[in-house]
Amino acid sequence: MDNPYQRLVVVSNRLPIVVSQEDGDWQIKPGSGGLVTALAPVLHEQRGLWIGWPGCSDEAPLDELFSRFSREQQYQLHGVTLTTEEVEKYYLGFSNETLWPLFHDLLGHCHFNQENWLCYGTVNRRFAEAIAEVSTKDDFIWIHDYQLALVGSHLRDLGIRQSLAFFLHIPFPSPDLLRRLPWKTELLRGLLDYDLIGFQTLRDRRNFLNSVLTMVPETEVLSRHRYYTLLRYRDRTLKVGHFPISIDFAQFDAAARSPEVTDAAWYLHEHLGGRQLVLGIDRLDYTKGIPERFLAFERALEKYPEMRKNLSLIQVVVPSRTDVAEYQQLKEELDGLAGRINGRFAEPGWMPLHYLYRSLDPVQLFAYYRTSEIALVTPLRDGMNLVAKEYCACSVERKGVLILSEFAGAADQLGKGALLVNPYDIEGTADAIFQAYSMPEEERLRRMTLLRAKVRRNNVHRWVGWFLAETHPHGEPHG
Ligand code: UDP
Ligand code: G6P
Repeated sequence: MDNPYQRLVVVSNRLPIVVSQEDGDWQIKPGSGGLVTALAPVLHEQRGLWIGWPGCSDEAPLDELFSRFSREQQYQLHGVTLTTEEVEKYYLGFSNETLWPLFHDLLGHCHFNQENWLCYGTVNRRFAEAIAEVSTKDDFIWIHDYQLALVGSHLRDLGIRQSLAFFLHIPFPSPDLLRRLPWKTELLRGLLDYDLIGFQTLRDRRNFLNSVLTMVPETEVLSRHRYYTLLRYRDRTLKVGHFPISIDFAQFDAAARSPEVTDAAWYLHEHLGGRQLVLGIDRLDYTKGIPERFLAFERALEKYPEMRKNLSLIQVVVPSRTDVAEYQQLKEELDGLAGRINGRFAEPGWMPLHYLYRSLDPVQLFAYYRTSEIALVTPLRDGMNLVAKEYCACSVERKGVLILSEFAGAADQLGKGALLVNPYDIEGTADAIFQAYSMPEEERLRRMTLLRAKVRRNNVHRWVGWFLAETHPHGEPHG
């Protein structure tokens, strides 16, 4: 990889870990979510430094836990602590009750609160101070995601002059939606202080450019290229590009072929009889379209009775942001729907819907990916959706069918091999489930071969290579 810097410093709201206490002993485990899945192999390869919030109480012996982690993973961690009030206002409040729903086009879920916005600024400043303290001028500083949009601007205030990059893992909304945000101009100006801004898709990049050109009038387009646009803002030039994130394909492919996963995959099917498995894996989040998916599954069983007893949906829901009211309501809604569907269709020896509210250990996760005949990935809106890519990488027999929402960033790359659906269209998604269920083996093989080739080629190491190449003044175009 072409990296002119001495060290890669990644900064994200959350460190890639979950710290917990079990039977009196402190444990450190990998965190969940697409950002961690994508960046952990990159940091591992580059032996860099990851700065973020440890997400645990002050009592945890972080120094000791971090050294254990860096011995195992070969990269360093540096913690930024948050007070209870900051967790409430900056993390749960502004990040997850304002920016998260707004950027996912779900205005109805947004709360706008001035105190939360101010606290967002304070915490972004704290992150900037932590970076200034532990980094050197030869580091490549790369800030990630919506929680930290203003960190670059605070670093500039602190006198940091080196090149600063930002990558947004979630979608960027259209100017019409962004206009609703009372602090839109401050947010956009803050982003313009970076030297390189990366989005997941061309649509996100265009939304951002259209927003700055209408809301920050002193911005000017210098030139447009296939993968990036050069902008002039005040006396500086910056690049705005799109770089679809990915996974470490080889790692998932190898894990899915391992003897433990092969055994676990065999057992899963054996245990569930000869029927086809449809798989859904998501953090508990209203952007993931899980209730709509349950309704589509129910409609499919209603409309195509030949599938009854011959197919089951396994929906894994990983607990997330449990202190936000909307997330609690969603959990209740899912419990109700799952009960209703099973109550309506279950028969002795056949449960239509297996609903697991917990995270999976890696062997189980890979086994579900490898063995499920169909994956149902139907977010209402998603920056990328790595579950879709992981399913393809683990589908080593190439017999899996991916049903994918047209509103996931992944649809840009995987749209040709997948069955694309509009998750709001319950009837259409039900029909896609039946189409996948009845798809001949030859077509499954053809589609999955195409999908795997896409994910293999556009893997996360290539993604980071593209991004770093764009930090050079004459960055290499990617494709
Ligand atoms: N995942 C996990 N624990 C689980 C199940 C899934 O960490 O029990 C991972 C999954 O492998 C994927 C990530 O969570 O890498 C979800 O990423 P995605 O981009 O699909 O959605 P996000 O959660 O980032 O919105
Ligand atoms: C998504 C976001 C990440 C976030 C993750 C888990 O992947 O893009 O920034 O870390 O969800 O959410 P959490 O709020 O638990 O960090």
